[in-house]
Amino acid sequence: MKGNVVVLFCALPLVLSQPKTYSWDGPGQTLAPDPINPCLTDQESCGCCVMQKKKWQLQQYLNSSMNALEDSLAKAQNTLKNIRDNRVAFSVGLTDKRRCVGPVKLPITVVYQSIFINIGEAYNSTTGVFTVPRSGVYNLAFTVFSDAGSPGAPLAVCASIRKNGVALAALREVYDQDQEDQATAVLLAQLSVGDRITISLQAGCWLCDDQNHYNTFSGFLLYATE
Ligand SMILES: *[C@@H]1O[C@H](CO)[C@@H](O)[C@H](O)[C@H]1NC(C)=O
Ligand SMILES: *[C@@H]1O[C@H](CO)[C@@H](O)[C@H](O)[C@H]1NC(C)=O
Repeated sequence: MKGNVVVLFCALPLVLSQPKTYSWDGPGQTLAPDPINPCLTDQESCGCCVMQKKKWQLQQYLNSSMNALEDSLAKAQNTLKNIRDNRVAFSVGLTDKRRCVGPVKLPITVVYQSIFINIGEAYNSTTGVFTVPRSGVYNLAFTVFSDAGSPGAPLAVCASIRKNGVALAALREVYDQDQEDQATAVLLAQLSVGDRITISLQAGCWLCDDQNHYNTFSGFLLYATE
């Protein structure tokens, strides 16, 4: 509607006054007015047409910029939602009461029963298994502690962190001179959905804990890879 009005307005001087017209090559060559597109023949009434054209181009540019921005925003919002929906973090302690686990004849999975945080419920406090809910790079850490009970008594604290039964890292402090030993390992690992992460107590070793939580096992998703 607006377009029609403008074209009419542009064409009006041609009909009424038949002004001098030039080709785009400049004055000298007079052309008959073109009723469809007066801009071609009538340079003087051309300004409004050019403005209309520029306005149209600007509108197109704004529209496409706006569409691109809306697309980017939708993608960013989707990514954020994904991250929020897939938060994974757990941190657990061995026990709340004074208790030792081991010494064991064969390696066992340590079952940490004191839950500090378990976002995503991927750590199972019945089995001691952290089952990876989403593929990605994970930060994993565990700290082991043991107490010989009395000075000079043997002390053996050794454990490993395992992915599907295969050791990723291990800690070992056996028959040292002191009565207590504690060690920590921190690592990053690329894990896949369904991988089972456990802490395994090695044969002949034992862990001791109380409400101070000397033994901990923690992990969180640093970033997802799918
Ligand atoms: C720009 O978008 C508006 C609203 O969607 C639409 O009415 C208009 O025709 C579009 N303009 C161009 C130049 O694409
Ligand atoms: C933990 O593992 C046990 C034994 O496999 C299972 O019965 C239980 O449902 C699991 N708990 C959760 C919260 O998945």
